Amino acid sequence: MAGGQLVGIPTETVYGLAANAWDPLAVRRIFVAKSRPASNPLIVHLASLDRLADAIAWPPSETIARQIDALEDLWPGPLTIVCPRCARIPDEVTAGRATVAVRIPAHPVARQILQECPFPLAAPSANRSRYISPTVAEHVCDRSGLAAHVAMVIDGGPSVHGVESTIVALGDSPRLLRPGTITAEQIADRLKVNLSQLQAFSGSPSAATGPDRDAEWVGPGMMREHYCPTTPLILLCGNRAALDENNDLHRVGRISFGPLAPAEAARYRAVETLSESGDLVEIARYLFAALRRMDEEGLDAIHCDTCSPTGLGLAIMDRLSRAAAGTGPASQGAESSR
Ligand code: TXA
Ligand code: MG
Repeated sequence: MAGGQLVGIPTETVYGLAANAWDPLAVRRIFVAKSRPASNPLIVHLASLDRLADAIAWPPSETIARQIDALEDLWPGPLTIVCPRCARIPDEVTAGRATVAVRIPAHPVARQILQECPFPLAAPSANRSRYISPTVAEHVCDRSGLAAHVAMVIDGGPSVHGVESTIVALGDSPRLLRPGTITAEQIADRLKVNLSQLQAFSGSPSAATGPDRDAEWVGPGMMREHYCPTTPLILLCGNRAALDENNDLHRVGRISFGPLAPAEAARYRAVETLSESGDLVEIARYLFAALRRMDEEGLDAIHCDTCSPTGLGLAIMDRLSRAAAGTGPASQGAESSR
C-alpha cells in the first residue's frame, strides 16, 4: 500500500478496499476501481483511538471529546464516527466535506495491518458501487468483483457481522447515518440522547430523497438504491401476493430467515435458510453472501423474508430495502417493508 496500490482487507463487518488515506492518487484509484461517485466520501480506518489526530481535527471540541469518551467501550468495533477532519486528510477522501468518517476495526488481521502501516487506511466496502458488499475474500475478485484493480486480497476468513459499521455523526445533535450491528439504542444510551432525536435522519431510503438530503449531517452515500443484486429482489413483507399458490416459483429463489415448511420450500428453484432459529445475528452475517449466490443462479427473481426494523433488524431491513429498491418491480415491496 506504500506504493499507492489497493489491497482487499478483511474486517469484522465486510471486506474493505484499502489505500493510504494520506495519498490522494491512491484514494482516487479506489473511486475508479469501484466506479464510485466522487461525491461519496470514504471511511478512514485507524489502529487505535490514540491515532485519532491522524484523521480528525485535533484537539476535538469539548462536545466531541465527551461523545468519543462515551463511545469508547465500543472500539475497536463496527462503529464509525463522523466529525470535523484534520488538514492532512485530502479532499479526495471526504469528497470535499469539512467532516471525516473514522473507524477502528476489531478484526485481528485488519488491526495488525493498521498497526504496521505508518498511515491510516481509507477503505470503502470492496464491491463495485451499488453492488452487494463482500463478506468473504473471494467476493472481492469474483465475477462481479474488482480483480483488475487490486494488488492483493488478504484472506481473514468470513466477516462475522456481515453488514457494514454503524455510522454516527457527532456534534451538538448527534445523528445515526447508517444502522449496523451496534444498535441505535446502544448509541442513544451512551450519548444520552433520545432515540428519535438520534434517528431524526435514520438513513432510510425515503429520508434520503427528502428535503434534508443535502444537509451536512446527512449521509451522502445513503442512496435509496444500494447493495443491489442484478436479479429482481422481492421482499415478502407486505407482498404475500408473491406467494399466491397460483404463482409459478420454479425459476425463483428464496432467502428465508428461518426453516421453511417443506411444501413451501419445494415450490422454489433454490432456498437459502440464513438461521435455523431466526437469529438476527446469523441473518445479518449470512445475508450478503446468500444474495450473491442467488444472484449467480440466473433466476427470474429472489424472494426474501423481512424482520421488524428494530435493534439489529434495523440494519438488516435498511440493506434489504435499498437492495430491493434497485431491482425494478420489487421497489414497492421495499417501501412497504419499512
Ligand atoms: O463496515 C464498514 O464501515 C466498511 C468496512 C470496510 O470498514 N466500510 C464501508 O464503507 O461500508 P463504504 O464506503 O461502503 O460506506 C461508507 C459510508 C458511505 O455511505 C459514505 O457516504 C459515508 O460512509 N461517509 C463517509 N464519510 C462521510 C462523511 N464525512 N459524512 C457522512 N457520511 C460519510
Ligand atoms: Mg459500501
